[in-house]
Amino acid sequence: ASAMAALLLALPAGAAELTIGFSQIGSESGWRAAETSVSKQEAAKRKVNLKIADAQQKQENQIKAIRSFIAQNVDAIFLAPVVSTGWDSVLKEAKEAKIPVVLLDRDIDPSGKDLYLTAVTSDSVHEGEVAGDWLAKTVGEKACNIVELQGTVGASVAANRKKGFDTAVAKHPNLKVVRSQTGDFTRAKGKEVMESFIKAEGGGKSICAVYAHNDDMMVGAIQAMKEAGLKPGKDILTVSIDAVPDIFKAMAAGEANATVELTPNMAGPALDAIAAFKDKGAVPPKWIQTDSKLYTAADDPQKIYDSKKGLGY
Ligand code: AHR
Repeated sequence: ASAMAALLLALPAGAAELTIGFSQIGSESGWRAAETSVSKQEAAKRKVNLKIADAQQKQENQIKAIRSFIAQNVDAIFLAPVVSTGWDSVLKEAKEAKIPVVLLDRDIDPSGKDLYLTAVTSDSVHEGEVAGDWLAKTVGEKACNIVELQGTVGASVAANRKKGFDTAVAKHPNLKVVRSQTGDFTRAKGKEVMESFIKAEGGGKSICAVYAHNDDMMVGAIQAMKEAGLKPGKDILTVSIDAVPDIFKAMAAGEANATVELTPNMAGPALDAIAAFKDKGAVPPKWIQTDSKLYTAADDPQKIYDSKKGLGY
């Protein structure tokens, strides 16, 4: 006991009480970069020592990072899973080591349900539905050919955002998804895939709307449309997900129409859940759901753009 007291006295005032390892996907989008910086801010507020490992989009790097966090005997592990499958073995290792795992912003397959403590995510099926409902309402009765830019293949949010959108659109026979391909959640790929859609669709003349699973791909698609002499936001409607500042900039310029917000602050609720679990044994709900709010060009995009600056973006 006296050795422990000596050790505690040796700790500087305000030293971190918890050490948490965060296996982050990478920096594929503006939203992801914001999530990383907000996580650092939220950890600093709570004096948590957050160790972030950037997996550069590779699941194998995430698995290595988790194993290294287990070896370091961290107090908890946060995981933003790049894809939804292939986690069972490494999460079993974390469970055996009695290290609680919290999923951030993406889900894993239901087979892994017992292997994590809680998941802080939005309802990504609902996000797709919100996007589809907005489009159906905006288009009205006219026939509308939609092209879709999907997120990373195998990511829960890509599958769910597709599913929700398809469900909403299926209620309206005048709406049809004519092309759908992955743009891997990046601007560069979003642009490249949109260029190929435009080519395949008579220079873009037969495209009525673009649905992108994130704003970054939409920003790339907007660039492709402009370079092809099309008017995004006017000739071609746009709806995407995240609500990053750049999409509000595009909206303010009349080049984008709608986005569904995804908060980059997944770490705040996760840190609170871990603190309560560690301090009082409070078991959090299995799902801590974040909000999904629709924004359109009618919501004063310039003001929103200005207000988002400094929030980690
Ligand atoms: O998992 C959340 C998604 O991942 C964001 O919508 C996207 O921008 C990011 O890459």
